[in-house]
Amino acid sequence: METILITGSNGEIGSQLLSSVKKNNAKIIAFDINKPITNYKNILYIKDTIVNEKIIKKLFNNFAITQVYHFAALLSQSAIKNPQLAKQVNEEGSRLIINSAFDSGMKNGNFVRFFFPSSIAVYGPRKLIKAKEADIIQPTTIYGKNKLVIEQYGAEKHEQSYKLNSGIDFRSIRFPGIISPYTIPNGGTTDFAPQMLHAAATFLSKNNKENYECKIDKSTKLPFIGIHKAVESIIQLMSADDIQSKLRTFNIEEVSLTPNDIIRILQKEFPKFNISYNIEEKLQSVADTWPDSLNCEKAKKEWSFSNKHDKKSFFMEYLIPTVKKYYGRH
Ligand code: SER
Repeated sequence: METILITGSNGEIGSQLLSSVKKNNAKIIAFDINKPITNYKNILYIKDTIVNEKIIKKLFNNFAITQVYHFAALLSQSAIKNPQLAKQVNEEGSRLIINSAFDSGMKNGNFVRFFFPSSIAVYGPRKLIKAKEADIIQPTTIYGKNKLVIEQYGAEKHEQSYKLNSGIDFRSIRFPGIISPYTIPNGGTTDFAPQMLHAAATFLSKNNKENYECKIDKSTKLPFIGIHKAVESIIQLMSADDIQSKLRTFNIEEVSLTPNDIIRILQKEFPKFNISYNIEEKLQSVADTWPDSLNCEKAKKEWSFSNKHDKKSFFMEYLIPTVKKYYGRH
C-alpha cells in the first residue's frame, strides 16, 4: 500500500490533488500551515510549517512514505514582498523535504517518488515564445530563483539515488498560470485570468456593476492550464513506471492568453461584463519576463501529456460550464 504525503494540502493544487488521490487505497497525510479545509475520512491531517525539521523528520521516521507531493510555497508576488520567508519556505523547506525523502528511501532500500511543482517563473529575462525546457533560464524574481534551485537540487538527488539504487525518484512540472473554477488565487502574477473568470461568473448573480480592474496590459500573453488538466498531468507523470529521461522537469500548457483574449471570450457568455486597465509595474515587469507559450513536446513524448483545447473550447466547453455549476451550487 502506498503512503502519500501532500504538503500545502489546502492550496489550489494541493486540495484538488488530495480530493483525487483520496479515492485510492492509500494512507494519506495532508500537511498544511493552516487548519484543514476538508474533513475526509481516513486522512491524517497535520497543521504545521514545512520548515519544522523535527516534525518532518518524525513523519518520515514514523511512516514509510512512498510518494511525496510537495506544494507548500509562497507564490511569486508574495515572495517579492517577503524574500526572506520565500527563501526559507520555497528553498530551505523544500530541501528539507527532499533530503528527508532521500534518507527514507535509502533506509528502506527503495525510491520515494517525489513531485515538485516548478513554474514558468524560472524563465527570463526575455519573454520567450514556445519556450523549451532548456531555453535561456535566468529568473529575475526571487520566486523563480527558488523554483530553479529546487528543480536542480531535486535532479541532482535523483541522479545520486540512481547510482546508489535507492533514495528519490524526482519528477517535476513547470506550471504555467493555473485557472481553477473553484478557487480565486492571490499572491501570483497570473492571477488576473482566474480572477476574471470568477468576476464574470459572479457578476451576473450579484448584479454587480463594476468592471474587473486588470493590473496587466491587455496584450501581455502568458501560458495557462486548467486545474483539472494540471492535476491529471501530475497523476499521469507520477504513475508512469519509469521516466528514463535525464530531464526531470517538463513544460505543459493548454492555451496561451492575453487579458484581451479572455475578456473577448467571456463577453460572449457574459455580455455586460467588462474590464478596465490599471497597470501595476510590479506585476507587469514580472509577466514581461515569463514566456508567452511553452513547447510541450518532451512531456508528450516521455509520459504522454495530451492537450485537446484551443482558446475557445477551453472557456466554452470547460471553464465556463464548470464555474457556472460551481456558483450555482454555492
Ligand atoms: N502562477 C504562479 C504565479 O503567478 C506562477 O507559478 O506566481
